[in-house]
Amino acid sequence: MEDLIYVEGGAPLHGEVEISGAKNVALKVIAAALLTDEEVVIQRMPKISDVNAMLQTISYLGAEVVWEDDHTVKINAQTITKTEIPVELVAQLRASVVFWGPLLARFGEATIPFPGGDKIGKRPIDRFIDSMACLGATVTCQGSICIGEAKTLHGGLVRFEKSTVTGTENIIMLATLAEGQTRIEGAANEPEIDDLINMLNQMGASITRVEDHVIEVNGVEALHGVQYTIMGDRIEAATFAIAAAVTGGEVTLKQIDAKHMTAFLAKAQSAGVNYKVVGDQIRFGKLQDKTYFDPVNVETSVYPGFMTDWHPPFAVLLTQADGVSVIHETIHSKRFGYVKELKKMGAEIEPFTIEDFDPANYGFDVSTEVPLQHHAIRIFGPTKLRSVGVTMEDLRAGATVVLAGLIAEGESTIAGVHHLDRGYESFVERLAALGAKIRRETNN
Ligand code: EPU
Repeated sequence: MEDLIYVEGGAPLHGEVEISGAKNVALKVIAAALLTDEEVVIQRMPKISDVNAMLQTISYLGAEVVWEDDHTVKINAQTITKTEIPVELVAQLRASVVFWGPLLARFGEATIPFPGGDKIGKRPIDRFIDSMACLGATVTCQGSICIGEAKTLHGGLVRFEKSTVTGTENIIMLATLAEGQTRIEGAANEPEIDDLINMLNQMGASITRVEDHVIEVNGVEALHGVQYTIMGDRIEAATFAIAAAVTGGEVTLKQIDAKHMTAFLAKAQSAGVNYKVVGDQIRFGKLQDKTYFDPVNVETSVYPGFMTDWHPPFAVLLTQADGVSVIHETIHSKRFGYVKELKKMGAEIEPFTIEDFDPANYGFDVSTEVPLQHHAIRIFGPTKLRSVGVTMEDLRAGATVVLAGLIAEGESTIAGVHHLDRGYESFVERLAALGAKIRRETNN
């Protein structure tokens, strides 16, 4: 049977926490290792199940994977024997779609099942397929199987009408080995993409972000090996920051770049969170003179805006604000799975639909979400949270209910822990080290 988390609310968190390497870079640099037949050594690799799934996939394709120490992994893709990924591996995580670019670039063929929808929305891959066609790669899907072919790859003009993070990363990787120049307009601006670009350039690629949302790639003959340390995880950082603030404690986050978190810091500060940046550390706590936070309105958006992945944990903080706050989600079509769990714990949250919405404002295709409903919530605070049995619905919803448990009266029991393991390394142990009354048990 699966593990359960037990958390007793009320303990303020104090101390320091080292932020892990960013999951959303880790998954992509694993795929990037396929672009060379030399050794790629990645440092600060988080030990999470999504990383394990990507490593399992690249090993299945024939690469050699060795963990050199706790957070360093060595990948050698000299001996790739397959270009086809079985459905069981793709089903584990959507990010496996990022194997398209490297497999087609290096081997000219790939077969990858359609990743399908998941709990936070349908998440189609139309932008991947269309963009790869601009470079001469064709992908045809029959049922759930997609077959890709790229006899010759040439540079081209790619225009994303709507932003896609992984789609941008995928086309960059495809273009690294194509003949000539590729220009990507409407490229996503997230710093995780720039971290991947840094690594690829250190492998011998020629990629430049020429201006916001425009990236140029000059194809090269081959890429070589590299040793690379990935950036800190700004989603994990925000999660710990909220944990410190809502418990009325004070926690210093280490190894995180505050400039990647500007929108979070601004909203947190408006709500009454106190923070101080010193070099690559940020100390978080609640403003001393406040009993409750102040209500704020948040609209998620692409970088440098307020990340969609910060939204669910931030909702917990807003349950402790004195007044009505609004969260409007514009990136994923179904991100409110955590709401019913927070309501079970006593939060007062009401979903609503934005009047006169502009379809261009949404990351997903609004026309496939008819009727467009409940893309925003009102949170009425402050409410006392109480302990009950709750279930994690997805990764970020998982962290959200743990944060709620940290401030709920009594002991909460949380199920669905495998969702949390996808993206947070040793979350329970690290919260406990900061003073949380939390434990994880395997129930037989
Ligand atoms: N979309 C399409 N068609 C496409 C591609 C995307 O309709 O071909 C839609 C998606 O369904 C979504 C929106 O466009 O509604 C944005 O999708 P994007 O491609 O930017 O997201 P992603 O690359 O799949 C990454 C992160 C997400 C994060 C988003 C937005 C990884 C592995 N995942 O997803 O992280 O929320 O960017 O910043 O990089 C998480 O870590 O919990 C997580 C979900």
